[in-house]
Amino acid sequence: MAGNEFVREKHVKFFVRTLQILPSSCASLDTNRMTIAFFALSGLDVLCALNAIEKEKQEIIDWIYSLQVLPDDRGSNRPQCGFRGSSTLGHHHDPAKARKKPIIYDSGHIAMTYTALASLVILGDDLSRLDKDAIISGLKALQQDDGSFCAMPEGSEHDMRFVYCASCISYMLKDWSGINIHTTADYIKNSVSYEGGIAQGPDAEAHGGPTFCGLASLVLMDKLQSSFTPKQVSRLKRWCISRQQTGFQGRPNKPVDTCYSFWVGATLQLLDTFELSNFEFNRSYILQTQSNVTGGFAKWPESSPDALHAYFGICGLSLMKEPGLASLHPALNISQRAADHLHTLHQQWQEE
Ligand code: FPP
Repeated sequence: MAGNEFVREKHVKFFVRTLQILPSSCASLDTNRMTIAFFALSGLDVLCALNAIEKEKQEIIDWIYSLQVLPDDRGSNRPQCGFRGSSTLGHHHDPAKARKKPIIYDSGHIAMTYTALASLVILGDDLSRLDKDAIISGLKALQQDDGSFCAMPEGSEHDMRFVYCASCISYMLKDWSGINIHTTADYIKNSVSYEGGIAQGPDAEAHGGPTFCGLASLVLMDKLQSSFTPKQVSRLKRWCISRQQTGFQGRPNKPVDTCYSFWVGATLQLLDTFELSNFEFNRSYILQTQSNVTGGFAKWPESSPDALHAYFGICGLSLMKEPGLASLHPALNISQRAADHLHTLHQQWQEE
């Protein structure tokens, strides 16, 4: 199954297929279709293969917008605004109906809103059909007193993952009024564990996922320098570098997993320390988790590939400048090309 040659064309097919069908083994992920679509779209972008879906592009953009939870005429549901993960929830977007009578519990989910915006940017959309103010109202309703974010206004766990989603949404909309930046930065600072890495929240175990989420959020907020002392930065670098075994693990004494080649690799990149890692071992581990039959990557060798690990495997290789892959904007977790498109839109909004 596994080999050392990067099977680019198979990965392109894997992501195109991911956009077309959800295998029955993934049926429980139906409400997260938006994130799965993001992995496929951003994966195709990093593979420089968005042309493979040129014909379907407009249909995908329209599907994403169909999942926007819009405010009703009276704005009574503004705290619920954002994006749904799939049409299984709420109702298919009929603006006329939705504006008259919103459906109870038909709320956006912060991870779906983040991946919806990122996907629109990747597809080159101009974001003109977004109700930006409503999205910001929805975001504001999710922040907790300790600075963390919930996923939905009805309540959910609140941790570093959703702090990152909130930072990406604010950055992409170029509007930080939905976030109290001060308490958000404090939450991240308070989540640095005794080990030097960042946890999902205060007093929890440091982990590669939240370490990326916390650090990338500070970078997007332009608060890295003012939040961490040089000693804390150096401990963070050391904790991240120590996560490399062959590939990267998420925390001490746990197995390596392809996705941490991105979560930890991108963190090291943001800390200007990625060059100190061993590219040969990292690349070799990622390629051991590649499926030469169906394309895609799994978390471990000889395991089934899935969209998340396929995407982060490719991102891990891109960080090491694998030939033929687009470079990444590591904090936003999209290609630099897509980030450039976003920055052009920001420029236009400023001139309007
Ligand atoms: C541990 O799982 C996994 C976590 C604690 C979550 C990690 C968080 C992320 C990957 C960030 C997600 C980001 C967004 C934007 C939603 P485990 O115990 O199965 O894994 P392990 O054995 O590798 O630690």
